[in-house]
Amino acid sequence: MTFLYKADPVRGAEWAELFARKAADLSFRIWPDTGRPEDIRYLGAWLPPDNLAETFPNLEILFSLGAGIDQFDLSALPEHLPLVRMIEPGIAEGMTEYVTMAVLALHRDLLPYIDQQRRAVWHGMRLVPAAQRRIGVLGLGMLGQAALEKLRPFGFPLSGWNRSPRVIEAVDTYSGASELPGFLAACDILICLLPLTDETRGILNEKLFAQLPRGAAVISAGRGGQLQQDDLLAALDSGRLSGAVLDVTDPEPLPAGHPFWSHPKILLTPHIASMTRPETAVDHVLDTIRRHREGLPLIGTVDRMRGY
Ligand code: NDP
Ligand code: OXD
Repeated sequence: MTFLYKADPVRGAEWAELFARKAADLSFRIWPDTGRPEDIRYLGAWLPPDNLAETFPNLEILFSLGAGIDQFDLSALPEHLPLVRMIEPGIAEGMTEYVTMAVLALHRDLLPYIDQQRRAVWHGMRLVPAAQRRIGVLGLGMLGQAALEKLRPFGFPLSGWNRSPRVIEAVDTYSGASELPGFLAACDILICLLPLTDETRGILNEKLFAQLPRGAAVISAGRGGQLQQDDLLAALDSGRLSGAVLDVTDPEPLPAGHPFWSHPKILLTPHIASMTRPETAVDHVLDTIRRHREGLPLIGTVDRMRGY
């Protein structure tokens, strides 16, 4: 029985060591060194190979090496094959750090201060107390909830919007399209942690920005396809939005000369908000394999109808 790893080979070597230590009964290979295709029972991939079912006829579980799965064409996967996404504490830890950094940067006017420094301007702006800076999260899943929990001690009023209703301590929660306007009207900093689906593609657009309080800021750390780039530029230039922190773009990387590279109101990072951490990721994978062998429900199975 073989686990095949198909992603960055340097991190793959770390996975190989962990497998050797924790699962000596499983052989481990790094793409493209697949060995006999019929021995492959488990595949962990950031991008799956073409003709998956024909190439690996005995595949039992396909793992996404990230928390997101939009890079997989769900319609091309055999129906019987579970797609399991990455649920491991390293991803949530990285994302909560990133979101906290971005919220504090926006809350404490870091972007205008960086701009001022470049222009040799010494000018302090009035501090807004945390209790007056309302933070809202789009998507109350694993990462949205973890981010809110990390932000709670700062004293920001917190809210969140989700597909299905959620109850979260000390967070005002909203759900569904009908409650979106009420949620947006009370967000000074909006954080997008939604998965990319047909419903969320382009959700960060002119119409949504117009429902935020004037001068609000946006953090986009879900997927680049959720942002209408021209709408963001127009909203920043008109003052409707005051700033944006973007970890994800479409495409990645952005082409040379793209306005996001140098916009003074945009902080751009190269999709690094969080990264799958090998030690804990291998534990999730091995636990999933064990559960599968024992006929138990798998944690993190993607619902193909919902698309995440
Ligand atoms: P989850 O599946 O745990 O959570 C997604 C949440 O979004 C769920 O609560 C879901 O609602 C909600 N949701 C889905 N569709 C809609 C919709 N149309 N309207 C309103 N709410 C919706 O995902 P994670 O929190 O683990 O991850 C979220 C995304 O973050 C990933 O899909 C990935 O794209 C991105 N990501 C980015 C990283 C980075 O480095 N920038 C790193 C890791 C992930 P419900 O409860 O009803 O299902
Ligand atoms: C993920 C990511 O989905 O890193 O895990 O974007």
